Amino acid sequence: MLPYGRQSISEDDIQAVVDVLRGDWLTTGPLVSAFEAKLGEITGGHRAVTATSGTAALHMAYAAAGISSGDVVISTPMTFIATTSTASMLGARIVFADVEEDTALIDPDAVDALIDERTRVIAAVDYAGHPADYDRLSDTASRVGALVLDDAAHSIGSTYKGRPVGDLADLTTLSFFPTKNLTTGEGGALVAKDPQLAQRAYEFHNIGLVRDAARFQVPGEGAWHQEVHEFGVNYRLTDIACALGLSQLSRLDAFKRRRAEITRRYDDALADVDGVRTPIQREDVDAMRHLYPVRILDGRRREVFDRMRELGVGVQVNYMPVYWHPVYADAGYRRGMCPNAEAFYSEELSLPIHPELTDSQVDQVVDALTEALH
Ligand SMILES: Cc1ncc(COP(=O)(O)O)c(C=O)c1O
Repeated sequence: MLPYGRQSISEDDIQAVVDVLRGDWLTTGPLVSAFEAKLGEITGGHRAVTATSGTAALHMAYAAAGISSGDVVISTPMTFIATTSTASMLGARIVFADVEEDTALIDPDAVDALIDERTRVIAAVDYAGHPADYDRLSDTASRVGALVLDDAAHSIGSTYKGRPVGDLADLTTLSFFPTKNLTTGEGGALVAKDPQLAQRAYEFHNIGLVRDAARFQVPGEGAWHQEVHEFGVNYRLTDIACALGLSQLSRLDAFKRRRAEITRRYDDALADVDGVRTPIQREDVDAMRHLYPVRILDGRRREVFDRMRELGVGVQVNYMPVYWHPVYADAGYRRGMCPNAEAFYSEELSLPIHPELTDSQVDQVVDALTEALH
């Protein structure tokens, strides 16, 4: 089966990991700092804090934002559930804003209509690698003093109005799961523009430990001392993973080029195929395409999905609207709330895209899709 996404691991990547295993540090050593510094560099020059997953990074972001019971987070239903579940776990009430009909990104007009004084965070998702409209979301957020969060699990390497992902929102979270734009196995990171938010996220991911003597509340202890002011968790990424991440980062441009070539090949091959709508890209965006989500028209998505799987093409569906998950449905969220997201879900099919997919494999996918449609 051709997978819809997979990692690309080079001999240099392997060597980088092997070198760590021969060294002194397995975790929280120099490669964590080096990876974070490099991540910060390519995401707008802000502080990056690594984490054990994209989900962990989202949890850190909401904890750093001080989300607690009763706070409102406005988000998109067209995402993986971690975008909102990590806020729900802290007691937030999620208000789902519908998506734009064409991009499936959170609709700034919908956010504008829903925002109120209780809103603490607007959490956008750069679905498929395409950044949301952050200028408009930031304007809306500033009306009530809310923060903007960019769940950039799909979009490291993308730009919006010439600015890189990481520089588009107050808080940005990344995922380094193997299918993502770069991988550390499991892994993720948070990027924060405000150094205080970054520090809060850092302490939350490190059990809440405070090591800055100027802030100590327990006086008179020795050089060993550290103390906790707020509870935290252990979401620290290892040196082993960061060695892989650092090596992968040096390949990010090449990954982006290959993803762009595959996108063009699909765009060209599918332009005139009846019953399929190909994804669009806004003019002010340069997307590192994580997914290639087509829309299968005329109610045929299920049938086309099954047929393509039979033909050996590992298509995927991204995503069932988040509030359809029983954990939200049981809490009273009703179907029909975000019609554009539901319509998109009913037609969406993700075709394989990853840096090692060859041109002939792309053609094989196109042939399988054409056959499935006839
Ligand atoms: C949009 C989105 N947000 C968050 C996550 C969570 O990332 P991770 O799998 O690294 O926890 C994912 C990963 O699937 C995702 O696609």
